[in-house]
Amino acid sequence: MTKDRAPIIPADSISITSAAKHLRDGGLVAFPTETVYGLGADATNGDAVTRVFAAKQRPQFNPLIVHVKDTAAAEAAATFNDTARKLAGAFWPGPLTLVLPRRDERISLLVSAGLDTLAVRVPGHPVAHALLVEAGVPVAAPSANMAGRISPTAAGHVVFSLPGPGTGGPDMILDGGPCTVGVESTVVDLSTAVPVLLRHGGVTAEDIEAVIGPLAPPPATNGEAKKSPGMLERHYAPALPIRLDAIDARPGEALLGFGPDAPIEAINLSQSGDLSEAAANLFSMIRAVDGPPFDAIAVMAVPDQGLGRAINDRLRRAAQPKDRSS
Ligand code: TXA
Ligand code: MG
Repeated sequence: MTKDRAPIIPADSISITSAAKHLRDGGLVAFPTETVYGLGADATNGDAVTRVFAAKQRPQFNPLIVHVKDTAAAEAAATFNDTARKLAGAFWPGPLTLVLPRRDERISLLVSAGLDTLAVRVPGHPVAHALLVEAGVPVAAPSANMAGRISPTAAGHVVFSLPGPGTGGPDMILDGGPCTVGVESTVVDLSTAVPVLLRHGGVTAEDIEAVIGPLAPPPATNGEAKKSPGMLERHYAPALPIRLDAIDARPGEALLGFGPDAPIEAINLSQSGDLSEAAANLFSMIRAVDGPPFDAIAVMAVPDQGLGRAINDRLRRAAQPKDRSS
């Protein structure tokens, strides 16, 4: 039996140079960011971008985030306003994505899925940064997992999350260690009069509002005309069903806990009750219990503030029944 698996290559200057060349040549590379691992392609190469959608079985109406090395490169890709400059100054490089009017016509229309906006982000991970500097092109990169499933927060997760190179997956996985933030970037739409929070993520809504004032809440996620097409109800889904607000485990359940009061048998997202630590552990701990001997995952309540809002958003979507997926 042939094993079709992308090689996991420790990120160093040689492998980063080779990965950058691979991107410029139209290939797919999985790489670490501080949030989750991304599946990267040259955003100006429509064929490469098409292969990203195919590898993930991602619906083509769901646009991708373009990753660039610094704010100047982001300003070349999309049209900034004062609010965008304030947020970029406060949070980049880092886990924040800004949705702005498209500017760089070289970026494939497929990236923004027919919208007249573009999502841009300057990642803070040193490997992602070095890769973007060497590639010299904007890199479109969704999370490196099949559409609707849980995002990878370690190189080893990517192998189990995507097809291998022989069947449309990435040719290589750059290993930069576990992701320190652990939940995806916060997405803010600045293309409208009032900034809209499209996705809770690694930068808290509270911190963003301290810089630019009130954010409008995410639009309702049911119905066809979604402002952020990626905000599907069922998402981030493990294989096993999830039960929220548990206080203990029922027979067959794994129990994910939070804080010092969680029962001793719980796998604790953060023993000390630290939301940053819980976010960094969330996806890898769900993966660790997502199968035999368990037949379901029970999760205790996590405070709905700061990073807890991103954690609860992921848990709520992961817990949606399967027939709600789209
Ligand atoms: O942390 C992250 O953001 C990771 C790492 C790899 O950077 N990427 C990531 O990408 O989570 P993805 O594709 O899994 O999620 C991107 C989200 C989706 O919900 C998508 O709908 C939204 O961003 N998005 C992208 N472009 C958009 C646009 N032009 N307007 C509104 N939403 C957009
Ligand atoms: Mg994703």
